Amino acid sequence: MAAPIAERERTPAGTEFNPQIGVEISGIHFANPVLTASGTFGYGQEFARLIDLNQLGGIVVKGISAEPMEGNPPPRIYETEAGMLNAIGLQNVGARRFVEEKLPFLRGLRTRTIVNVFGYTTEDYVRAIEILNDGSGIDAYELNISCPNTRAGGMVYGNDPRLTAEVVAASKRAARRPLWVKLSPNVTDITELARAAESAGADALTLVNTFVGMAIDIETRTPRVSNVTAGLSGPAIKPVALRMVYQTARAVRVPVIGIGGIASAEDALEFIIAGASAVQIGTANFYAPDTALRVVEGIRAWCRSKRLNLSDVVGSIKIPPSAASPVS
Ligand SMILES: Cc1cc2nc3c(=O)[nH]c(=O)nc-3n(C[C@H](O)[C@H](O)[C@H](O)COP(=O)(O)O)c2cc1C
Repeated sequence: MAAPIAERERTPAGTEFNPQIGVEISGIHFANPVLTASGTFGYGQEFARLIDLNQLGGIVVKGISAEPMEGNPPPRIYETEAGMLNAIGLQNVGARRFVEEKLPFLRGLRTRTIVNVFGYTTEDYVRAIEILNDGSGIDAYELNISCPNTRAGGMVYGNDPRLTAEVVAASKRAARRPLWVKLSPNVTDITELARAAESAGADALTLVNTFVGMAIDIETRTPRVSNVTAGLSGPAIKPVALRMVYQTARAVRVPVIGIGGIASAEDALEFIIAGASAVQIGTANFYAPDTALRVVEGIRAWCRSKRLNLSDVVGSIKIPPSAASPVS
C-alpha cells in the first residue's frame, strides 16, 4: 500500500521516493501504464530485436478477424504534416493462425497481451472471440468498432450507439476475458458512444482510433491513398484525442486508456492528468521504436520528482473555477 500523499510530503527532502507506476485495469495488473497500440507494433515479435519487450506495460496486437485478410492495395500509407494517413485495410493472419503461430512468443513475455478484434458483422466479432478464447496467454480483448457493418448498409459500428451496444453486448457474452472497447473519434459526441459501450458491458474504453482524412496529389489529381480516404494518426491528432479522453473519463466509471499522437512522457502525462489510467503509443513506434520505453522512464522520473504515485495523477486535472462550463 502506498503512503498517502500527506505522509509522503512529510518525508525529508532528498529522501529517494520510489513511485508506484503499476496500474490495475479490468482486473489485470500492468507493471506500468504504457502499452503499444494496435497496428503499429505488429504481433510484438517484430520489435524484439529493437527493444526489451518485457519493459512494456502491454502490447496490443494488430487487429485480428475470424478469417485471414489481405488488406487494401497500395499505396496504403502517406505521410502528412505531423502525422500519417493509413488505409491498410486490417490485413491480418486470422484468429486461428494467430493462436498457433503468434501467441506462443507473446506468452513467453512478462508483458501483458491484449488482442484487438474486429469484424464486419456482429457474428464475425463473436466468431473471432470464440476462436481466441481457446488460446492461452491473452489478458484481454480490445474491440475495434471502427468497422463498417455490412448488414447495416456499411454503417460504422462505432458511429452509432445502437450498433455499438449490439456488438459490445454480443462480444461480452462470448468473451472469456475482460473486454475493452476502442472508440472511434469520428463522431459528434464521444461520450454518447462511451456510455453506450459501458452500458453494454465494456470493462474499459480505449480511445481514440484514427480520424478519417485524405490527401490528393495535385499533379495527377488522384488520392494519395488507394482507398481514397484513410485514417489520420500521429502528433497532429493529439489535442483532439486529449479532449475526447478528458470528456470520456468524466462521463463513465470504467477505466479509460488514452491514445493519439503520444510521443513523449509529457504527452502521456497530459492524457493521464486528463483521466486516462493508461496510454498507448501508436505512430511513434514507426519512427522511434524505443518511444514506449522512454515514456515509461519519463513517467517514473516525473512521478519521483513530484513524489506522487501514478494513482495520484490519474484524473488530477485542476480546472480553474473561472473556466467556461466543461464541454460535456
Ligand atoms: C498503420 C496503422 C494500423 C493500425 N491498425 C489498427 C488496428 O488494426 N486496429 C485498431 O484498433 N487500431 C489500429 N490503428 C490505430 C492505432 O492503434 C491508434 O489508435 C491510432 O493510430 C492513434 O494513435 P497514434 O496517433 O499514437 O498513432 C492503426 C494505426 C496505424 C497508423
